[in-house]
Amino acid sequence: MSDFKPLDIDRSHVNDRHWNLESLSQTYKINPNRELFSLWIGDHDFQVPIKVQEAIQQRLAVPVYGYAFLPQTFYEAIIKWNKEQFNLTYKKENIILSHGTIAAMIMTIKAFSNPGEAILLTSPIYGPFGEAIKNTNRSLVAHKLLYKNNRFEIDLALFEKQIVDEKVKIFLLCNPHNPGGQVWDYSILLEIVNICKKHKVIIFSDEVHRDIIFKETKFTSLAHFESLYDQVIVGVSPNKPFNFGGFKTTYILVKNESLNNSLKQELVKTKMTSPNTFGVPALIAAYECADWLKDFNAYIEDNYHFIVNALKTENDLSIFDTNASFFVYVNFSQLTTNPSLFKEVMEANNIILAYGDSFVQDGEYFARINIGIGRAKLERFVQQFKFALAEVRTKVNKINYIN
Ligand SMILES: Cc1ncc(COP(=O)(O)O)c(C=O)c1O
Repeated sequence: MSDFKPLDIDRSHVNDRHWNLESLSQTYKINPNRELFSLWIGDHDFQVPIKVQEAIQQRLAVPVYGYAFLPQTFYEAIIKWNKEQFNLTYKKENIILSHGTIAAMIMTIKAFSNPGEAILLTSPIYGPFGEAIKNTNRSLVAHKLLYKNNRFEIDLALFEKQIVDEKVKIFLLCNPHNPGGQVWDYSILLEIVNICKKHKVIIFSDEVHRDIIFKETKFTSLAHFESLYDQVIVGVSPNKPFNFGGFKTTYILVKNESLNNSLKQELVKTKMTSPNTFGVPALIAAYECADWLKDFNAYIEDNYHFIVNALKTENDLSIFDTNASFFVYVNFSQLTTNPSLFKEVMEANNIILAYGDSFVQDGEYFARINIGIGRAKLERFVQQFKFALAEVRTKVNKINYIN
């Protein structure tokens, strides 16, 4: 047994975006008299492992927080974790620090494409992928994922055609997929790699959710294909399971020497070469907490099965067949084709979720629910959610009646 504790930590009084009312009120109307379910952003409610807390406290105890560097132990922790958890072999020089995974993606876009050139993603996808492309003045090419049997599929022929027609330079993969929580199979990844190799497309594989995998699922990193095609950059982060996204301490794995050098130069240009003071001890300690991660993952998987079961009564909802991370992706298109109405009613019921507009495009009739909360709260959420769904139904019926 590890020290994983599924208790919701109250963060409403600290400056975290997830629960702080000052922050939430900038976007939402919060009803102070009703329980709030803020289940939109991607961090969970459980405390970090004790080892991580102790490592941070030790550093905190030296009351000067000067410019930091990356010690040998930082690299050793990453090398060991990647070997033990994913059977990936890396050397120190393959590891590049970044201040957030999207920052690494932006560095990649800047280093390996020019303004106006095409960058491909699959949609829907975690919103900042789209922003990374648009804000660097590249052209966004979206491959719309097919939604079949509550899973996503890629139409490989169309995927290749888009690469050729649009002269795509970089493909941004999200594996496991956010918002779906879907791990891409080995066979589809192999096809993607072969297509990208054929057309000389660099792949940035965002694998920040790779540590949170359901029991029967096999996760394949794109790094496993490096001997076949080495134009691959893998973005990794301890933040999702270990819950310290605020430290912005992530890293990329890139073996190809030329890609590696270009990315290091890009990092130098941004002057973001020194790490977050607390992120370094936090990462080193977290990567000693494999037991904690196992217990965390089991709890999340149980939460997933709980909510799927509890929502079985709602015949007009379909729930994504998830096998990674702490999100539940819900399709409400049979309930209403008016996403604004759905959102409005949820907000009026003090329920804040992430919707299609947070996922670039092609997710209009979906909501993503963060289930990284304690079971008792999840049970209360389900009740409030069902109540809100009934209200949506009533409003839809009224509108249909009038029309
Ligand atoms: C797919 C994906 N990529 C990147 C991020 C940001 O991660 P990081 O904290 O590693 O910068 C998130 C956070 O929600 C995410 O879901």
